Amino acid sequence: MHLSSTLLLLCVGALLKCAAGSEWCYTGCDHTPSHWGDVSSFCLDKRQSPIDIATGYVKTDPNLHDFAFVNFTSKSVIKSITNNGHTVKCKLEENAVEVSGGGLNATYSALQFHFHWGDTEHHPGSEHTINRHRYPMEMHIVSLKKDLAVQEATGDSEGIAVLGFFINATEDGDASGPWGELTSYLTNITGVGTEVNITHPISINDLIGDVNLTKFYRYLGSLTTPDCNEAVVWTVFQEPININKNLIQLFPEKTKLSNVYRPTQNLNTRQVYASPATPLTPGHSWCYDDHCNYSPPYWHVLPQSHCGGEHQSPINIDTKTAMEDENLDDFTFTKFDDKHAIKYIINTGHAVKCVLKEDVVEVSGGGLAHVYSTLQFHFHWGSHDSDGSEHTVDSKRYPMEMHIVNKRKDLTLEQALQTPDGLAVLGFFIQATDSTKSSGGSEAHETNPPSQPASDMDAWNKLTSYLPAIHNISSQVNVTEEISIDDLLGTVSRDAFYRYSGSLTTPSCNQAVVWTVFKESIKVDKNLMKMFPAEAGYHDVFRPAQPLHSRKIYTRSASSAPGPTTQFLLLACLCAFFV
Ligand SMILES: *[C@@H]1O[C@H](CO)[C@@H](O)[C@H](O)[C@H]1NC(C)=O
Ligand SMILES: *[C@@H]1O[C@H](CO)[C@@H](O)[C@H](O)[C@H]1NC(C)=O
Ligand SMILES: *[C@@H]1O[C@H](CO)[C@@H](O)[C@H](O)[C@H]1NC(C)=O
Ligand SMILES: *[C@@H]1O[C@H](CO)[C@@H](O)[C@H](O)[C@H]1NC(C)=O
Ligand SMILES: *[C@@H]1O[C@H](CO)[C@@H](O)[C@H](O)[C@H]1NC(C)=O
Ligand SMILES: *[C@@H]1O[C@H](CO)[C@@H](O)[C@H](O)[C@H]1NC(C)=O
Ligand SMILES: *[C@@H]1O[C@H](CO)[C@@H](O)[C@H](O)[C@H]1NC(C)=O
Ligand SMILES: *[C@@H]1O[C@H](CO)[C@@H](O)[C@H](O)[C@H]1NC(C)=O
Ligand SMILES: [Zn+2]
Ligand SMILES: [Zn+2]
Repeated sequence: MHLSSTLLLLCVGALLKCAAGSEWCYTGCDHTPSHWGDVSSFCLDKRQSPIDIATGYVKTDPNLHDFAFVNFTSKSVIKSITNNGHTVKCKLEENAVEVSGGGLNATYSALQFHFHWGDTEHHPGSEHTINRHRYPMEMHIVSLKKDLAVQEATGDSEGIAVLGFFINATEDGDASGPWGELTSYLTNITGVGTEVNITHPISINDLIGDVNLTKFYRYLGSLTTPDCNEAVVWTVFQEPININKNLIQLFPEKTKLSNVYRPTQNLNTRQVYASPATPLTPGHSWCYDDHCNYSPPYWHVLPQSHCGGEHQSPINIDTKTAMEDENLDDFTFTKFDDKHAIKYIINTGHAVKCVLKEDVVEVSGGGLAHVYSTLQFHFHWGSHDSDGSEHTVDSKRYPMEMHIVNKRKDLTLEQALQTPDGLAVLGFFIQATDSTKSSGGSEAHETNPPSQPASDMDAWNKLTSYLPAIHNISSQVNVTEEISIDDLLGTVSRDAFYRYSGSLTTPSCNQAVVWTVFKESIKVDKNLMKMFPAEAGYHDVFRPAQPLHSRKIYTRSASSAPGPTTQFLLLACLCAFFV
């Protein structure tokens, strides 16, 4: 997007410095993309381009019907080619080329097209990315709403329509033809500010080739260069133009300009749409490992994502900095003993989740300011030989973690996700029964009897017996066995816990969670724990620890928790009972 360079060109010759782009650049000057906000504050706004198009989150819009193009087949409308110091731009005959239809609200008059590319080391350089895949190049055909001047168009939220085409590199594609002819001019515009007439009869359609023009994405965005005006209706075609890789190399080689693309910008609250003909790949578009498009470091680029926020979970709990809080009183658990509260168990592809019957189980107290109804619980795990809890305590990771997810009773789920204390999650660490290692929990815990009461292991036996039936992702089965949450939690103390404000630990990472992380861990037979990675077919399903930033971690004060004597007595009691 180089509208401003139209203006820059006016001063070519007189002011070569100006044309050289001393104001902003992609690399090698003060105002690189992360500092474009200093050049124009629009670059910091919320409707910026380019973006990553996560196809799993795109919605089909039936109004995105076919485009109508005027003079795209004309072999005389591409007038000249110029190097403006930021890109290579081809100017079109004025008021001759038009774009309408395709869900656009107006007819747009095309001014120019230009390119974005990577470098001579074969780094790709498209601006938009598809599921984080970056193509070698991207071509932008820039049009203004008909009869608007540049100034007016940049001030209109739909004043500019840009058609974006990805350019893909093929090993053995035709190196002559229209692209061979167009790129032959690159040797004539090696200097910044140079421009030559195009005399070959090349049409826009010759360049677009056999791209299917009914398959495209649509969103509202901005110019991708300063002043980043939020005036652009974007069309990004799904199919790339395939051209010989040697021709692509000519762009960085001849112009000495490399990596001329802006990094992708946050989508924020925008929705990307697709035309009905566009195939949308369904399924899971985020994951925990490095081998998918959206691993944890990239979750923040996902649509409507909060994953880049400052109150994210999980965290490492530094026990030394935890502050005592006397408002953390006893929890009240309602129907945790209900043996028929679990409706079904599902393999989500990211976790194993037990969904509860609605409005049965509840949690309140424990310093929570509301009553919460329990929606589901699920598990995070490592692999057969590594730990996979989400929270860590003094950097120690536990083998597994169970999350009981509760929603404020007075809110809908939608509302709860937008409210800082809309959700309350109870986190319990899970350790192996035969483990001799210290749990890092309370004193009481270390003196816990080594074996569980039979009834508890019974519950875990029953629960894990469903795992083979949900081996396939998205499969679910009804839970008919009698299992209560109390059975699963066993004798773990529910008085000793940490409290902090955080988020969901999976996309969209809404910062809506009051976290409770219990100090003692549930003890489960090692072989039952191993069934989670083995039967689900995936492992290491935990998000890495997030920065605490300005947050505080609280813990129950000594006075509000049962004193050591009570604990001792309680324990003595339990021991007596189990013997
Ligand atoms: C197409 O472009 C030619 C000039 O190349 C122009 O004379 C003609 O009017 C244009 N066609 C339309 C429909 O605008
Ligand atoms: C078309 O106009 C409607 C109504 O003003 C607006 O909501 C929509 O965003 C516009 N679409 C485009 C592609 O400009
Ligand atoms: C891009 O080109 C490569 C060959 O270089 C090919 O394997 C791939 O399928 C092409 N991608 C698309 C989307 O056409
Ligand atoms: C481009 O450069 C080539 C080689 O230097 C030269 O033969 C040709 O005339 C030039 N073309 C234009 C349009 O300047
Ligand atoms: C380029 O084309 C324009 C008309 O489109 C003409 O006026 C100009 O002289 C041409 N320049 C060269 C160097 O041929
Ligand atoms: C474009 O794709 C649609 C949907 O797959 C198909 O029906 C149509 O024939 C294609 N058009 C061309 C020109 O290939
Ligand atoms: C899992 O999927 C496969 C292939 O779709 C199917 O044959 C198998 O029966 C499924 N297993 C279960 C437990 O649903
Ligand atoms: C599971 O339970 C639901 C009711 O909660 C019932 O409609 C459904 O048929 C059950 N599915 C199976 C496979 O039993
Ligand atoms: Zn551009
Ligand atoms: Zn979780």
